[in-house]
Amino acid sequence: MKHIVVLTGAGISAESGLKTFRDSDGLWEGYDIEEVATPQAWRRNPALVQEFYNMRRKSVLEAKPNLAHSALAELEGKYKVTVITQNIDDLHERAGSTNVLHLHGIITRSQSSLNPNLTYPIDGWELKMGEKCELGSQLRAHVVWFGEAVPMIEDAALVCAKADLFILVGSSLAVYPAAGLVNYVPWKVPKYIVDPNIPYLPSDFIKIEEKATIGVPKLISELLNE
Ligand code: APR
Repeated sequence: MKHIVVLTGAGISAESGLKTFRDSDGLWEGYDIEEVATPQAWRRNPALVQEFYNMRRKSVLEAKPNLAHSALAELEGKYKVTVITQNIDDLHERAGSTNVLHLHGIITRSQSSLNPNLTYPIDGWELKMGEKCELGSQLRAHVVWFGEAVPMIEDAALVCAKADLFILVGSSLAVYPAAGLVNYVPWKVPKYIVDPNIPYLPSDFIKIEEKATIGVPKLISELLNE
């Protein structure tokens, strides 16, 4: 069975109402990354960081998967599919994808602030100050902050190296190490990108310059009819 590897970024969830980071109305425009998404920020003002991610979690729980998420789930009828996502939402899973690797964590889970391997489901949108892990440390969102290691990157690179076909959707490729994953896909493998504003790419991609809900279903229906 052909193995299709899909790398997604914030753009795939934009039409579900979740803001991207670097578009003109992007999430980071209203926030200083250093104030909310770094270990230093957590040390300085944990309540502010907790509140920021509580708001993100609330938006995620209110959002619904869109046609791009569900088209990717349909691919599993004919192909082996691995979705590698930089997104911390759970929209791929809710659309029905069964093999999703979350490079930057997932906001519906909490994480020990002492040991990142201890993660737990969160009931509802709010993670409160005072809620502790089994080691007695404050629980934080299970997301990878700037300046933290990306534990899943090696697994993701191995998956990319084995792809028979590669699809990139909605990422500016501005953040490493995630952006470097495209370099692990062998050169002869067909590569597609769906993005209304195609970023600089290091190798030969077939460019579909459309929004995810238009471009992804179109590409997927071609692949399903092959
Ligand atoms: N459909 C497809 N792509 C879209 C759409 C859409 N409707 N709207 C915007 N895009 C594209 C933009 O053109 C851009 O290329 O999505 C991309 C969004 O880029 P970023 O905001 O930089 O998001 P992403 O690449 O996922 O960011 C990577 O940065 O802040 C961190 O940890 C965060 O995982 C995130 C990482």
